Amino acid sequence: MELQRSFLGLLLGFLVLSLTPLSSARFVVEKNSLRVTSPDKIKGTYDSAIGNFGIPQYGGSMAGAVLYPKENQKGCKEFSEFGISFKSTPGALPKFVLVDRGDCFFALKVWNAQKAGASAVLVADNIEEPLITMDSPEEDGSTSKYIENITIPSALIEKSFGQTLKKSISSGDMVNVNLDWREAVPHPDDRVEYELWTNSNDECGVKCDMLMEFMKDFRGAAQILEIGGYTQFTPHYITWYCPQAFTLSKQCKSQCINHGRYCAPDPEQDFSTGYEGKDVVLENLRQLCVFKVVNKTNKPWVWWDYVTDFQIRCPMKEKKYNKECAESVIKSLGLDIKKVEQCMGDPTADSENSVLKEEQDAQVGKGSRGDVTILPTLVVNNRQYRGKLEKGSVLKAICSGFEETTEPAVCLSSDVETNECLDNNGGCWQNKAANLTACKDTFRGRVCECPLVDGVQFKGDGYTTCEASGPGRCKVNNGGCWHDAQDGHAFSACTDNGEVQCQCPHGFKGDGVKSCEGSCFTGKYGLA
Ligand SMILES: *[C@@H]1O[C@H](CO)[C@@H](O)[C@H](O)[C@H]1NC(C)=O
Ligand SMILES: *[C@@H]1O[C@H](CO)[C@@H](O)[C@H](O)[C@H]1NC(C)=O
Ligand SMILES: *[C@@H]1O[C@H](CO)[C@@H](O)[C@H](O)[C@H]1NC(C)=O
Repeated sequence: MELQRSFLGLLLGFLVLSLTPLSSARFVVEKNSLRVTSPDKIKGTYDSAIGNFGIPQYGGSMAGAVLYPKENQKGCKEFSEFGISFKSTPGALPKFVLVDRGDCFFALKVWNAQKAGASAVLVADNIEEPLITMDSPEEDGSTSKYIENITIPSALIEKSFGQTLKKSISSGDMVNVNLDWREAVPHPDDRVEYELWTNSNDECGVKCDMLMEFMKDFRGAAQILEIGGYTQFTPHYITWYCPQAFTLSKQCKSQCINHGRYCAPDPEQDFSTGYEGKDVVLENLRQLCVFKVVNKTNKPWVWWDYVTDFQIRCPMKEKKYNKECAESVIKSLGLDIKKVEQCMGDPTADSENSVLKEEQDAQVGKGSRGDVTILPTLVVNNRQYRGKLEKGSVLKAICSGFEETTEPAVCLSSDVETNECLDNNGGCWQNKAANLTACKDTFRGRVCECPLVDGVQFKGDGYTTCEASGPGRCKVNNGGCWHDAQDGHAFSACTDNGEVQCQCPHGFKGDGVKSCEGSCFTGKYGLA
């Protein structure tokens, strides 16, 4: 058993590596400019590489004074243990803390400096090499807790430049620098093109959780930008292929569609239980096709509704990550299932799928953009975005991609309204006769939530069903029960003795919902 396991692991590793021939793994480091403004002898512009966490000030700049702590120079411990604080005093420049690379995660150094009051962190490389992107560590319970809370920007600088700064500081100079992100995103015109390389897998741990949160948060803004014609958004999905010799293996069969051409890793990394890699490839393909279909009708923003609704309604945890659930989401949004199916083609066919083939080609970098190798990846005006995937900072990066003064209003205010409920009731449950709806317009885009009416809470999924529940429900829409008025008498089938039921009143017969008819009288309701 143990042997088999490691063989699977080895094979899985081999399969992942086999992505390499497709892309020669060209990773472009996004840089911002760092300008030393004093002292005179080291004045000038230096390169620095934006970290993949924290919040870079896209479109802006920031001035500060550089400090190099006397102790804890790698920043791996809490600065308070050494009695060190970087809190700014009124009127003083913000403190940029210089720390050395090594011994612990980049993110931990930045987190420790932030807690001690730093406004930004410069990490000096410990070897001479081209700059790399400081990434957040994968899958680690204790780090994921603070990564989320890093709000200051950080950048890696070259070893030699680090030494220049240290020398100047130790000789007593006042070292001032300016970090500038204004040119981090090119802004050639009044429309921003951006891509999100995403994944429908909702069970891959911290990174998936962050991506899912981001999708929900960002949807409202994304839709406003797209509807206003300010942006052209394209979603993308990564797949890899199975080496020819393995296409008939159990692993490739469970992870791939189209005979090993398009694969995704098993969500649980366990071939024997739960969802398989090919379930993820299929849903990714469906999401791509939903985009193709809505883009053809010039409503590309509906894709955001589909993916966020799918996330809410069809999670793996509830075993609803499947075709049936996906199709009920497509139906709620009033989209053409046939067209989506046509676009998806036959996943069992031994032939290319043109949609996924296009995606594999797009994974390879072009021009200023490197290969896409990590998920999620956001590309704005063909530059890879670096920083935390969070609504505010992503919006800033997109907004900095507009030529100055052409930014849409959403870039200047957080006050966003979507009015999506006006169109097809946002795909949510409604009862027109009773003027009730589950659609709520929020700054995050519309949500489908059963309403609270006259103190009575409706319960259901908000998309296809909402029912009054709890005491008092007879007050609202008569509890969904039959009612009628005759000769000044009101008749109701709603009874509320702790538990609400639709029961025809005494002397009437019927289901209590649609009809009640008098049994011993003539006439419509026995009251002629
Ligand atoms: C991160 O921030 C949240 C909300 O402000 C807080 O509840 C949590 O304790 C913070 N985590 C850490 C590790 O400080
Ligand atoms: C979406 O539609 C626009 C305009 O019709 C087109 O330029 C673009 O290539 C389409 N995108 C995709 C991914 O099909
Ligand atoms: C339906 O309810 C909304 C808000 O509760 C109200 O503004 C609207 O006038 C109502 N429409 C009708 C036809 O009663």
